[in-house]
Amino acid sequence: MSRAATRFFLTPSTRLPNPLLFPKRRRPPPPCTGATRASFAAMAASGLGGGEAFRLSASAGAGAGALKLFKGDITVWSVDGATDAIVNAANERMLGGGGVDGAIHRAAGPELVQACRIVPEVKPGVRCPTGEARITPAFKLPVSRVIHTVGPIYDMDRQPDVSLNNAYTNSLKLAKENGIQYIAFPAISCGVFRYPPEEASKIAVSTAQQFSKDIKEVHFVLFSDELYNIWRETAKEMLPQVEK
Ligand code: APR
Repeated sequence: MSRAATRFFLTPSTRLPNPLLFPKRRRPPPPCTGATRASFAAMAASGLGGGEAFRLSASAGAGAGALKLFKGDITVWSVDGATDAIVNAANERMLGGGGVDGAIHRAAGPELVQACRIVPEVKPGVRCPTGEARITPAFKLPVSRVIHTVGPIYDMDRQPDVSLNNAYTNSLKLAKENGIQYIAFPAISCGVFRYPPEEASKIAVSTAQQFSKDIKEVHFVLFSDELYNIWRETAKEMLPQVEK
């Protein structure tokens, strides 16, 4: 028997339990839409924590325009691998770095830096100026695209709030133009670039609100309990919460 054929046969010790002897316990379906259920299932499978959901617009119907918060590593996040994208907190050169940028490049594989290299420079050494965004394929990542944006260096930018707003807004605009329905952001500028996370979370949530009709779900994947709690407090202040 070929090796491929053996994959479809179970030995007695690996045989699955008889479903008649071990019937699955029936649970009532959760009170949410198909899209919402799909994204929660995907996140649970990837091992991300959290999962609180908010409505981005008070007037939108159930399931439309949701904001969700997750805890963990953004490189394992995905919803459907076709209309989803993660956002990279990059630098203006766009050739990788530390923090979430390094994690995304490691997980995507070396093709990502090659794709970034062919993004045209707008001036020497600058492929993506602060506040702008660029899109590439995602290669080995489980999502369809990576959107690269550059947040402000808090102590050096003259108007860090304007630049951070631009980084979120331009990422969401680019997502919309490319048919992205599900997008996940890290806490842009809240690491090496030292943006105070309470202020950053307000900008992040308010820009997401402005795209409630354009993107099905805006997710934030926060790397620490502290950041997760800050984003959760801000979302609770600004948006109606929905049941999981
Ligand atoms: N998943 C989710 N979030 C992450 C991950 C990860 N795998 N790794 C780090 N983070 C979080 C950090 O904890 C921080 O809260 O992402 C947030 C942003 O931190 P940085 O990655 O340092 O990004 P930023 O502050 O925007 O600085 C960008 O860092 O590495 C460089 O090339 C990058 O020069 C650019 C600068």
